Amino acid sequence: MQLTTEPEIVFKAMADGTRQRTLTVLAQHELSVSELVEILRQPQSTVSRHLRVLREAGLIHDRRDGNMVLYSLPTNGSSTNGAPGTLSDDLLSWVARQPMASVLTSRLESVLQRRKELSDKFFGRVGRAWDELREQSFGCQFHLEAFMALLPRQWTVADVGTGTGSLLPTLSRHFQHVIGVDPVEAMLDIARRRINVAGCQNVELHQGDLSELPLPSDTIDLLVAALVLHHVPSPQDAIAQLYRVARAGGRVLIIEQGPHQESSFYERMQDHWWGFESDMLCQQLSQVGFEAVTAHALTTVDRAQDAPELFVITATKGSLRDSWSL
Ligand SMILES: C[S@@+](CC[C@H](N)C(=O)[O-])C[C@H]1O[C@@H](n2cnc3c(N)ncnc32)[C@H](O)[C@@H]1O
Repeated sequence: MQLTTEPEIVFKAMADGTRQRTLTVLAQHELSVSELVEILRQPQSTVSRHLRVLREAGLIHDRRDGNMVLYSLPTNGSSTNGAPGTLSDDLLSWVARQPMASVLTSRLESVLQRRKELSDKFFGRVGRAWDELREQSFGCQFHLEAFMALLPRQWTVADVGTGTGSLLPTLSRHFQHVIGVDPVEAMLDIARRRINVAGCQNVELHQGDLSELPLPSDTIDLLVAALVLHHVPSPQDAIAQLYRVARAGGRVLIIEQGPHQESSFYERMQDHWWGFESDMLCQQLSQVGFEAVTAHALTTVDRAQDAPELFVITATKGSLRDSWSL
């Protein structure tokens, strides 16, 4: 709807006690019609009529939330034509400064208290079922992906041994430039299809090997090597390559299997190594020059019974302080 700033429409909207009280209450909180009915103690048809007048004068905003419409005051400068200092904005800031009658304050408090009780009651009832509902509604990874928001978007990230590229769409959403490397064309084909379907414009794929990464030296902000080092004949050489392509201050993140004796894994996956002691890989990282080398066990609670334990190692090329600068 086109909002108007015609002074007579704005003044007419303000020239009514109920409408002034409605604005004073909405200055405190966004509310639905039925909540306003309860606070103002006016019939619903009356409240709705007043809200319509206020909305047509550009003095309130509405938004749909599920099957409810919620009303609030526009933020400063967004009433009518969006220019701060308009008549509507001046009147609304005057409204926001007016003390609210104590009876309205206490009714507003009980409306808000009941909202909270309804929410608490929902979570009280849902209890343990929340875990299932959370996963059904949002999947089981969104919170892990959210942590990526802590890292600088400008980074160039390379996923070496990317396989089918399962990490690539997520990395693509969070970082400016993403590179996937894998020696096996069949894997790269799947990765290529995956990034096309996801519409990733900032991902490039290279066929290549960790013994000689097809990437220029000193260019990558974050190197990810997930479940790949146990496939390479010489992890030491692979780590030297990771060091070469990392920029000064760049980081490496290695996810690996701990030592295991699961021949089903070793043979089925054509591994070169029966997992690693994390200390050994940490030593190799330090030897090539990585700093701040740290290992953590991963608590993979949903890991298959016969699957090896996993750990993660992070390290930086140069000091940690350099790693956050660009
Ligand atoms: C177990 S998959 C892991 C894929 C992916 N990183 C993931 O977490 O789903 C191992 C991948 O490493 C690749 N790979 C094997 N040897 C490699 C090497 N020497 N250099 C780089 N990648 C290699 C394989 O082609 C395969 O795609």
